[in-house]
Amino acid sequence: MALRSLTGIKPTGEIHLGNYLGAIRPGLALQDRYTAYYFVADYHALTSVMDPQELRLASRTIAATFLAFGLDPSSHVLFMQSAVPEVCELTWILSCQIPPGVLDRGHAVKAARDAGRDINVGTWMYPVLMAADILLYDSDVVPVGSDQRQHVEVARDIAIKVNHRYGDGTLRVPEVSIQEQGAAIPGLDGRKMSKSYQNVIGLWQNPKKLRKQIMRIVTDSRGVDDPKDPDSDTTFQLYALFAEPEAVADLRQAYLQGGLGYGHAKAALFEVLNEHLALPRDHFHHWMDHPSDLDDVLDAGAVRARAAARETLDRVRSRVGLK
Ligand code: ADP
Ligand code: TRP
Repeated sequence: MALRSLTGIKPTGEIHLGNYLGAIRPGLALQDRYTAYYFVADYHALTSVMDPQELRLASRTIAATFLAFGLDPSSHVLFMQSAVPEVCELTWILSCQIPPGVLDRGHAVKAARDAGRDINVGTWMYPVLMAADILLYDSDVVPVGSDQRQHVEVARDIAIKVNHRYGDGTLRVPEVSIQEQGAAIPGLDGRKMSKSYQNVIGLWQNPKKLRKQIMRIVTDSRGVDDPKDPDSDTTFQLYALFAEPEAVADLRQAYLQGGLGYGHAKAALFEVLNEHLALPRDHFHHWMDHPSDLDDVLDAGAVRARAAARETLDRVRSRVGLK
């Protein structure tokens, strides 16, 4: 059986460059080696998005984003998490396998508390639902940004425990895949780019807005003539992820020598980024403007995902004694 990769993105807020570099690009890069499962984590989003319209729009935006960057729906599987409600049943079964302390230490709970948001039981259960996502599809590898490592490790631990208790092969034990290069993309203020910090560079804004946003990247106060440190500068770090190696080496040299202002570096970043996004942007708008085509892709994906889910769930139900 072909190896499977799986990744999900939560439809909350604006999709940004960090999501693309940390999860979407590495996820799509696995298309030629794996059967890839990509899904929109709309059940997860329900922990924080309480407006149905907003949830629907954000969900479709994520699906169209995967397609815009080249997901091939004829060979791979794109679906809405909630189109396969079997994941909720597996969540329950898994929740009976772990002590509550694991969830108290959860990353999502901590993030919500840090942001001063009230948590609900869904936020607390977040890692179990995510483990169910991963384990339901017998995933071999899960490409995510480094902030999701803990969650994938919870999934691994649960799978190992379940296999120990109910027999080898009950669940497939997944590997996390974190690309060094895109593991933690800095945002406008130099902290990790995140919707929760409101420091994101949005993927689908028009070029004018994109340029404006890039110009807001925070820099130190060195003037045009001063030598600058490329490695601690957000503009340079982002540039290095998109430009050709030679151009990156040139910009590095210009930073070290002095004589180039941050404004110029930002303009160069805008050029490469805008060029990189231009074609995907057209594709994105095409999918958003053709909702029934998008629905067709998602419906076909749901049929395939559901078949895979059913197999795992039948196996698990039988092993734990639910048949
Ligand atoms: P946010 O932090 O903006 O809420 P999510 O938690 O929804 O983003 O992340 C969706 C995916 O994008 C995850 O796999 C996550 O690891 C990745 N990701 C998010 N922000 C970044 C970042 N700044 N750098 C790298 N990957 C990121
Ligand atoms: N928790 C992930 C995030 O916040 C989204 C997600 C849900 C996910 N289920 C997943 C990612 C399964 C990978 C695999 O971004």
